[in-house]
Amino acid sequence: MTPRTILYTGKGGVGKTSVAACTARACAASGLRTLVISTDPAHSLSESLGAELGPEPSAIEDRLWGQEVNAQEEMERHWSGVQDWLAEVFVERGIDRISAQELTVPPGMDELFSLLRLQSAHQSPDWDAIIVDCAPTGETLRLLSFPDVARWWIEKVFPLERQILAAARPLARSLLDIQLPSQAVFADIQRLSTNLIAMNEILRDRKHCTVRLVMNPDKMVIGEAMRTFTYLNLYGYLTDAVLVNRVFPSDVGDYFAGWRRVQEEHLELVRSAFAPVPVLWAPYFDQEVLGAEMLDRLAGVLFGPGGHDPAAVLHDRLTQELRVSEDGAGLRLMLPFAHKGDISLKKIGLELIVGVDGQRRTIILPPALAAFQPSGATFEDGALEVTFRRARDAEPA
Ligand SMILES: Nc1ncnc2c1ncn2[C@@H]1O[C@H](COP(=O)(O)OP(=O)(O)OP(=O)(O)O)[C@@H](O)[C@H]1O
Ligand SMILES: [Mg+2]
Repeated sequence: MTPRTILYTGKGGVGKTSVAACTARACAASGLRTLVISTDPAHSLSESLGAELGPEPSAIEDRLWGQEVNAQEEMERHWSGVQDWLAEVFVERGIDRISAQELTVPPGMDELFSLLRLQSAHQSPDWDAIIVDCAPTGETLRLLSFPDVARWWIEKVFPLERQILAAARPLARSLLDIQLPSQAVFADIQRLSTNLIAMNEILRDRKHCTVRLVMNPDKMVIGEAMRTFTYLNLYGYLTDAVLVNRVFPSDVGDYFAGWRRVQEEHLELVRSAFAPVPVLWAPYFDQEVLGAEMLDRLAGVLFGPGGHDPAAVLHDRLTQELRVSEDGAGLRLMLPFAHKGDISLKKIGLELIVGVDGQRRTIILPPALAAFQPSGATFEDGALEVTFRRARDAEPA
């Protein structure tokens, strides 16, 4: 049976590890054989759960296992061929060996390799639920959009490349004085491409795999989460919940009262920006969230007494879909609560402000749409369809 897989992501320090750990405990308590994996190269899952964890799954308590993937090990396993080759190329160009080693690993790559471990967990018959504590949002999820590119390389370039290289190698050495990549390099790249394609299949299986965005009620944190949300939708990964952590409770006292008011406004922004994805929230507790007792307290408020099942797919449709072609683009937005009515559209930079029936919603568009202007909109079946044209063709606003 395909395990239920939940990835928690969000900006640094918002509470991803705490929320992932508490979800895993709640899943295990509900009877699921659960594995919680940290793919953040800076692990803190052991500390959060109060258990020693290693690079392979270790038992924590009944039905609960934890794992902290060793990024260095994964890198050596997947990337050493490329690393050795690139390092030689850099060294030959006069870069010292230590810097050359550093340069062979593109940013975000270590986390990407850690995330690939999800595949082996996914293939194992041992788990009903897999909870992933990801590194802070950055390039990783974007790197996962590579599969389409990877597929192209595998089909079009690899078969040719090897033959050309075999013929060109002696020539390159004597004429150009460069080291051409060896078969090991191609083997690495090909394996990575195949892995990415397989990962993509796991992540796009929207019946079993979803992403949950963790944030705090701070403007910048919410802004980043909105951008991530757009990317996730774009790549067809389903976000089934948004979790706002560390909300000041009503009895914070005078000193924080102003903060609380601002947070309330920000919570409104979260609701409108991510609707109809459910928004769960947890208060700023009077102590750190460490160890079983505090984690269970966090799960208790997040999923609510008798409320959401932590392992359920809490929302089952993509909220935005984007198609981009040579001269136009279409954005489909689910607005299930709107009725056919007045639609207003405004694009400022990469922000699209959509008004339907007096409700406003801000969507952060991907950079691919920078040169486009909205050219029309229709509302049908609970979805708003916005069309874009390249700016030079668009009517003046
Ligand atoms: N609701 C809460 N109330 C009080 N403290 C919290 C709450 N949630 C998390 N914390 C504390 O905030 C700190 C950061 O949380 P956590 O490690 O879960 O965040 P993170 O997003 O995983 O961080 P990083 O990006 O560094 O991995 C921890 O000390 C944790 O105990
Ligand atoms: Mg963390």
